[in-house]
Amino acid sequence: QDDMNNDIERVLYSQEDIAQAAKRVGQQLAQDYAGRTPVIISVLKGAVLWTVDVMRYMQYAEVEFIDVSSYHGGVASSGMVDLVVDLQTDIKDRDVIIMEDIVDTGRSLQFMKDLLVKRGAASIKVASLLDKKDGRVVDAKVDYIGFDVPKAFVVGYGLDYKQLYRNLPYVGILKQEVYDPEHVNVVDVTSEH
Ligand code: PRP
Ligand code: MN
Ligand code: MG
Repeated sequence: QDDMNNDIERVLYSQEDIAQAAKRVGQQLAQDYAGRTPVIISVLKGAVLWTVDVMRYMQYAEVEFIDVSSYHGGVASSGMVDLVVDLQTDIKDRDVIIMEDIVDTGRSLQFMKDLLVKRGAASIKVASLLDKKDGRVVDAKVDYIGFDVPKAFVVGYGLDYKQLYRNLPYVGILKQEVYDPEHVNVVDVTSEH
């Protein structure tokens, strides 16, 4: 089959839900940054869709990209974060807004905040489509939240599983059989329908 939608167990946030959240957050940012020109820092690759949708509602703003990679595997207590692609601009004395698709353990966010503080940012705020508070390992606060998301394997609208599903227009829960081939849906197998 060639339809990504078939890999989704359940839609959590529809395209319309997300459009509404982007508008709400974007308009709030426009208001909060009135008279200033913040630098939006979009975190590759997951945050790209959210970034462009939110920034449409803002006024004067620059946009830059950063790529950090977190390693969730291995020893759980020592999750590491790598700087893969650095910013191409000096953010000293600038108001920065970090745009994320999801904050989970908080490690990626903490790493970027530390980096931006070290480089002398005037202020740092965070706008994330999803805030998975139950996943938090390090204390990292999200200032502008699209949705508080429960602990589940979510993909779509930027969020990937093995680099796929980012282009789905909604956020949904991935079917277990997609990432766990051993898993068979018992209901489907035994059903007479
Ligand atoms: C994901 C997500 C966040 C980060 C959140 O990115 O987009 O950036 O992990 O996880 P954390 O709070 O536990 O650090 P990932 O490193 O998978 O890269 P991607 O955006 O390119 O998918
Ligand atoms: Mn990411
Ligand atoms: Mg990822």
